[in-house]
Amino acid sequence: MKKTILSLMALGLIIGFAPSSFAAGDAPHAPHQHWHFDGITGQFDKAAMQRGLKVYREVCSACHSLKRVAYRNLVDLGYTEDQVKNIAVEYTVTDGPNEDGEMFDRPARPSDKFVSPYPNDKAAKALNNGALPPDLSLITKARHNGPNYLYAILTGYGEPEHGVELMEGQHWNKYMPGHVIAMAAPLSDGIVAYEDGTPETVSQYSKDVTNFLVWAADPYLETRKRTGIAVLIFLIVFSGVMYGVKKKIWKDIH
Ligand code: HEC
Repeated sequence: MKKTILSLMALGLIIGFAPSSFAAGDAPHAPHQHWHFDGITGQFDKAAMQRGLKVYREVCSACHSLKRVAYRNLVDLGYTEDQVKNIAVEYTVTDGPNEDGEMFDRPARPSDKFVSPYPNDKAAKALNNGALPPDLSLITKARHNGPNYLYAILTGYGEPEHGVELMEGQHWNKYMPGHVIAMAAPLSDGIVAYEDGTPETVSQYSKDVTNFLVWAADPYLETRKRTGIAVLIFLIVFSGVMYGVKKKIWKDIH
């Protein structure tokens, strides 16, 4: 009897402690934020996406490419074709070879994809202490709980927990698996100017750039949701009609 009680206590200890010791080296789950695009009727917040594009262009694009997005896709954010042209020409694309077999530089056109900050991954690593800044085109899909995770990473920097030693080029981040990230905190209050009076804070920048990157990874989100609702309405109406038909056909047979 005593043995059974002891082993039950031991089991209790194991069960009680196992999850917490498992979680020690792991990052907490990124908390849920309120997103305009969430839910069955969710839609993109264009003003937030335009601000997010600004944050990407002025901060993130120094290190991260956005290879799957073309400048002309930015009309989705509410820009006119002329505005998109003006954004594109601010970038330089290496094109060619020309008639003489030489590569040449030209201003980007709306049909070009976002110009990458580095010529190749090796150059990107060499300039970032050996860590590769991932392409951000699909990042909100590539990570579990993508939008909340992205927001959490961007706002999750802090002093290392007691006993954590960081090497050169490493930074402590509450939400990064293992709490160590090679990207220094990219945002600080006031670094990107907003013209529409929106607060220029790390939290707001992080929200806006997340809105922008969710669109980049899933530009058809709104269409998909709209089609889903239309299909649901159709199915409900169709079921009603079929029920009526069934009643009519079988009305004499009882
Ligand atoms: C100075 C260069 C630099 C800038 C600027 C920068 N990053 Fe990074 N970023 C990196 C590097 C390097 C890594 C790889 C980190 C690692 O593997 O530990 C990274 C990793 C990431 C990751 C992946 C984290 C993961 O789960 O692996 C995300 C997401 C990210 N950056 C988003 C952003 C966003 C959004 C911005 C702009 C607000 C930004 N970064 C600005 C260098 C940068």
